[in-house]
Amino acid sequence: MYMSPSAIEPEVVFSGRRSATYRDALHLFPDVWRDDIDLMRRFLHPLTGKRVLEIGAGNGHFSRAIAEDLGPTGLLVATDPSTEQLDDLEAEAGGRIKVFGQAAHTLDLPIRNFDAAWSRGAVHHISDKTAAWKAVAAHMQPGGRFVIADIFAGTRVAAYFDDFIARSCCTGHEVAFLSREFATSLCALTGWEEPRFTDVTTRWRFRTKADLGHFLWLLFSATEAFSDDDCLIAAERHLDVVADGKGIALLWPMTVMETTRLPIRN
Ligand SMILES: C[S@@+](CC[C@H](N)C(=O)[O-])C[C@H]1O[C@@H](n2cnc3c(N)ncnc32)[C@H](O)[C@@H]1O
Repeated sequence: MYMSPSAIEPEVVFSGRRSATYRDALHLFPDVWRDDIDLMRRFLHPLTGKRVLEIGAGNGHFSRAIAEDLGPTGLLVATDPSTEQLDDLEAEAGGRIKVFGQAAHTLDLPIRNFDAAWSRGAVHHISDKTAAWKAVAAHMQPGGRFVIADIFAGTRVAAYFDDFIARSCCTGHEVAFLSREFATSLCALTGWEEPRFTDVTTRWRFRTKADLGHFLWLLFSATEAFSDDDCLIAAERHLDVVADGKGIALLWPMTVMETTRLPIRN
C-alpha cells in the first residue's frame, strides 16, 4: 500500500469504530448489496483487461467484484484516504488490486491512462469536488469514463442522512451532497463531457426487520444511545421497507452520474 505524501487527516473519518462497524456490517450480511454489485456492472462495464480507478473504495466490497471482472490482464487501483479501510485488500487480491491511501482531491498516482473511474457512496464525503474531478480527469485517458453512484441533494436518502445519521453516527455526518446542476458544472470546468444522470433504486435484502435494524446500526456506526430498533424506525420513516416474498428489503435510491473524458487540447 502506498500512502499519500500530503496530510490527509481531515478526510479520515472512516477510522477506528466507524471503519470497524462498517466492515462488520458487510461481514455479517455479505449478500445485502447484490443489487448494488449488479448496478455497478450495469453502469461501469468492467471488462476483461481494462484499467479501472476506484475512488473512496472503503473496505473493498466493490473492489473485489470489479477486480474479478477485469481478470488477470486488467488492473484495479483502489484509493481511499482511510488506509484502515483498505487493510488486507491488496494482499488478498494477489496483485490484481493496487491500493493507494489517497483522497480524491489530492490524488496523484504513479499510474495514469485509466479506461474508467468508479465511485460509490464516497463523493458526498469529498470536500473539494472541483479538485477531485480535475484529479480524476488527469488520471484518465481521453474517452475514459467516470461513473458515480451516490446520494444526491434533495433526495429522500439525503434527508435520512441529515435527519438521523448526522445525529446517530459516532463520527457525525458532515457532508456535501452533489446536485445535478453542480455535477454538470464540475464536468464542464474540469474536462468532462456533459454528464448523464439516472435514478436507480437497489434492494438491500434481509431475512427480518430486526436484521435490517442491526445492519443499519453497524453500517452507520450508531452510538450506544441508539438501538437497532431506533435505526429501523428512522429508515422506515424516510425510506421504503417492503416484504417481497424473499424476506425484507430496504429500497435504497441513488443517482448514477456517467461522463466521458474529453480529448486533451494543446
Ligand atoms: C460510505 S463509504 C463508501 C465505501 C465504498 N465505496 C462502499 O460503497 O462500500 C465512504 C468512503 O469515502 C471515503 N472518503 C472520504 N473522504 C474522501 C475523499 N476526500 N476522497 C476519497 N474518498 C473519501 C471514506 O474514507 C469512506 O471509505
